[in-house]
Amino acid sequence: MNILRAYIYFFHRLAPWLLEGKPNTISVKDKQQTMKKIEAIIKPFKLEEVKESLSEIGVAGMTVSEVKGFGRQKGHTEIYRGSEYTVDFLPKILIQVVVSDETAKAASAAIVKAAKTGKIGDGKVFIYPIEEAVRIRTEENGEEAL
Ligand SMILES: Nc1ncnc2c1ncn2[C@@H]1O[C@H](COP(=O)(O)OP(=O)(O)OP(=O)(O)O)[C@@H](O)[C@H]1O
Ligand SMILES: [Mg+2]
Repeated sequence: MNILRAYIYFFHRLAPWLLEGKPNTISVKDKQQTMKKIEAIIKPFKLEEVKESLSEIGVAGMTVSEVKGFGRQKGHTEIYRGSEYTVDFLPKILIQVVVSDETAKAASAAIVKAAKTGKIGDGKVFIYPIEEAVRIRTEENGEEAL
């Protein structure tokens, strides 16, 4: 009798594994990584132009901050609003935008095109993989949250 019980117990525990694979390891719900975050540090007067270009390619949202920074020239030889700054840090704008993988290349190219003057201090673009996104109001996640 006990042997029968043990047999039934193990069958119930093992059957799902045999039929569906080990639970909690690979789930159909797990999505491939499909998003990128683009951070662009640009000259402040280029913000409008960059914003317009990103809107044109259908970027839904963005975050903008006023930051300070320096690059290779340490800010010394840069001109800001007509006068040469002698400090290390110059005012810059940091744009953060999260987009789908398919949009990332176009978005980065649009930023570079709009922000470029060809003079020193034009800025940089950094691209990061995004693990997950959640729209708080609806609790949608992944690309649907963008
Ligand atoms: N390696 C870096 N890491 C983080 N931020 C950076 C880096 N390089 C530049 N930045 C940011 O970008 C801003 C603009 O940099 P900048 O365009 O002067 O870079 P650069 O390498 O000196 O290029 P350029 O020779 O064209 O001036 C800086 O003020 C800083 O905020
Ligand atoms: Mg520089």
